[in-house]
Amino acid sequence: MSMEYVNRLISNETYMKTMGEIHEMEKSRIYCHHGFNHLLDVARIAYIINLEKGFGYDKEFLYLCGLLHDIGRAKEYITGVSHKQCGVTLAKELLAQIDYPKEKQELILEKVAQHGHAPMPKEGITRDNFFWFADKRARNCFACKAAGTCNWPMEKRTMEVQW
Ligand SMILES: [Fe+2]
Ligand SMILES: [Fe+2]
Repeated sequence: MSMEYVNRLISNETYMKTMGEIHEMEKSRIYCHHGFNHLLDVARIAYIINLEKGFGYDKEFLYLCGLLHDIGRAKEYITGVSHKQCGVTLAKELLAQIDYPKEKQELILEKVAQHGHAPMPKEGITRDNFFWFADKRARNCFACKAAGTCNWPMEKRTMEVQW
């Protein structure tokens, strides 16, 4: 399966520069970081869930969602505006720069906008919300040293390994 657009993204100057900024700004952060380990964990967990549940998304689409979903973090740290909101604006620019098919861009932007820290979906994992779960299950809360002051409610934390 082609990962051409994924590899275009990680060769994109703006993308890599923004990832570098996030890395710098999170150096003294005691809570979860938003570097490539997290982004690729989310992509891979989303892809595993997608395969297990037969949701039928293509691999490259989910990797782009993973790589882009937290890209608004740099701006959030500077402006205080939610990274979901800032992320949509930047992700839109980046998807255009890598020439990702227009008709599929909107769905990625939707995942960026909606991956947030809303309450746990009560309906369990569905084709529409599984990216939310992948984002949360990509965190090793069971081994976290900052768990005592983390603002995530217990129900959202990953205390058992599923994927
Ligand atoms: Fe996030
Ligand atoms: Fe995330």
